[in-house]
Amino acid sequence: MITIGVIGCGRIANNAHFPAFERIKDLRIKYACDVIKEKAEAIKKKYHIVENITTDYKDVLDDKEVDAVFILTPNYAHYEIAMAALKAGKHVFCEKPITVNYKLSCEMANEAKKQKKILNIGVCNRYHASVEKLEELNRNGEFGKIYHVYCSFRAFRSIPGLGGDFTNKKVSGGGALIDWGVHFLDLILYILGGAKILTVSGDTYCEMAKDMKSYKYKNMWAEDTKNIENGVNDVDDFVTGHIRTDKGTISFNGAWAQNLDKSEMFIDFLGDKKGARLTYCGQFDITDGQTLQTTSSTHEIPDMYQKEDEAFFDSIITGEKTKSHIDNILQSAKLLQAIYDSAEAKKEISF
Ligand SMILES: NC(=O)c1ccc[n+]([C@@H]2O[C@H](COP(=O)([O-])OP(=O)(O)OC[C@H]3O[C@@H](n4cnc5c(N)ncnc54)[C@H](O)[C@@H]3O)[C@@H](O)[C@H]2O)c1
Repeated sequence: MITIGVIGCGRIANNAHFPAFERIKDLRIKYACDVIKEKAEAIKKKYHIVENITTDYKDVLDDKEVDAVFILTPNYAHYEIAMAALKAGKHVFCEKPITVNYKLSCEMANEAKKQKKILNIGVCNRYHASVEKLEELNRNGEFGKIYHVYCSFRAFRSIPGLGGDFTNKKVSGGGALIDWGVHFLDLILYILGGAKILTVSGDTYCEMAKDMKSYKYKNMWAEDTKNIENGVNDVDDFVTGHIRTDKGTISFNGAWAQNLDKSEMFIDFLGDKKGARLTYCGQFDITDGQTLQTTSSTHEIPDMYQKEDEAFFDSIITGEKTKSHIDNILQSAKLLQAIYDSAEAKKEISF
């Protein structure tokens, strides 16, 4: 039996982790914690698996019965809570992105090593059946040499919670890149098999809601967090980049919002034998350069959140690092940082 405390009872807690916890055996949820008491209460009422609620995460850390914590708070709070939890001797699952920048991410990894505790990051897509299959196909040489990967994560007028946590750099660390790009670029590095980054060139734009009051939209996710009157919007709503690695080049375009009514979410892997297009959160097509035939995958897609949570609990028991251990995610954090640094400096970054 593993005893956990869950810190942060917002969307990802309600929509992903608690539904997964309900299906996981030998798990005791001693605390649901949120600075907004009503949110912790609502989780306890909805999921009958929570024993106590608190508004102070230190209550969770002080409890010797708690083996591990889930940090499901806004990005800026990940670092403080993870460092305190590790120092209190807890294993930690922390949602993506690791935190708001690479330097603090490295400090978190070092603390986990020092305390000999597991620190996993919420890279749920690494547990997606399509991603696992593509990683295996590439490892088996199916694509030949993958010389280029292109990805697009672009949507029409979808800035989340304008003026709230998502668009305030101090809170989130960035916009479309750190919120959506983090998934896409991490998947690419994972499927390529730990590519070493050589050079990075990026540009970021904040164009669609410079004047928040005149921003038009049809949909806004996290609308409950918007603060158009008094909030801040200083993050990227569009990002583009070119990356050289020892395993081929990567280019990408990402937009939380654009003046094109298109949603284009995919990753193209171009190999000299075969190529594949992975539709984000879906299936993939593979085109064979010899037969000129394209086949589509048709596998079932199990709950990737449940799989990543179970992998975390297994790691606590075995002590083994999985693909979501922070040490295996730092390369993605380094890449995000380099893209932001390149955009700010307006020049290529070399490693
Ligand atoms: N893996 C994914 O696909 C995915 C999807 C969505 C969000 N996320 C990540 O999950 C995290 C949370 O996102 P969300 O959409 O659930 O946000 P949210 O705002 O809905 O929920 C965060 C909750 O944390 C609470 N909180 C803030 N500071 C706290 C503190 N110090 N102690 C306790 N509670 C605190 C807030 O009151 C809020 O209820 C973010 O880092 C986000 O990037 C990951």
